Amino acid sequence: MRLNAYLARAGVASRRKADELIKAGRVTVNGEPGQLNTFVQSRDRVELDGSRVELQRLTYVLLYKPPGTVTTASDPQGRPTVVRLVDHQARVVPVGRLDADTTGALLLTNDGELAHQLAHPSYEVEKVYEADVEGEPSDDTLRHLERGLELDDGPTGPAKARLLAPSRVELSIHEGRKHQVKRMLAAVGHPVTRLHRGRYAGLTLEGLEPGQWRELEPSEVESLRKR
Ligand code: URA
Repeated sequence: MRLNAYLARAGVASRRKADELIKAGRVTVNGEPGQLNTFVQSRDRVELDGSRVELQRLTYVLLYKPPGTVTTASDPQGRPTVVRLVDHQARVVPVGRLDADTTGALLLTNDGELAHQLAHPSYEVEKVYEADVEGEPSDDTLRHLERGLELDDGPTGPAKARLLAPSRVELSIHEGRKHQVKRMLAAVGHPVTRLHRGRYAGLTLEGLEPGQWRELEPSEVESLRKR
C-alpha cells in the first residue's frame, strides 16, 4: 500500500497529515527517506522520527452517537467529537456523517477500502431514520417521499416512508447527501425537530446506550464486505 495509507493504518495520522510528515522528511522506509509515491510491503521497515511504525489490525466499531457530538475530526465550537468517544487503540474514523444534533448508529473504522465502498452511492447502503416532525404528514406526503423529490442538489432516489406516530416518520434511504433527511422532510412541509438513525447497513443499536460502542462481530464485517 502507499506510504500515506500505511501511516494512516498505523494510527499515526490521517493520509493528508501523513503526506506532510513524508514531505518533511520524517519518514523512512528501510532506512531511505520515504516519498509520496513510495509503496510499502509487509516486510518493509517504516520509521517515523526514527521509531518503528507498525500496522494496526483492522477495526470496526458501531457507536450510538449521542446528541451534541460532531462527526468531524475537530470542531471550531469545541463540541466533543465522535472519535474521542471511541476509546480504542486503533485510529478509527467515521464512515459518512451525522449532524451534531442527530443521534444513532454510526460506523467507524480504519479500513479505508471498506469505508470508501460503503460511502459510495452505488453501494446503496440502507439507512433507516426516525424523524419527529412538525405537523402530521398525510399518506400522499409519505408516497411523495418514497417516489423521490427535487432538492437543490438534484432528485432523491426511491425511499420507504411510514408513520410511526402522527408526527413521527420512519424514512429509509440509500443515499447520504448532506442534511438529506431534514431537507426531504422540510421540502414536503414537515421540518424535522428530532432525528435518530436506528439502523445502518443492517446494524442496529440493540444493547447500546447513547455514547456506548462495540466492535463488530467478524460475521457482521463479512456481511458488510459482501454487500
Ligand atoms: N440526514 C440529515 O438531515 N441529517 C443527518 O444527520 C443524517 C441524515
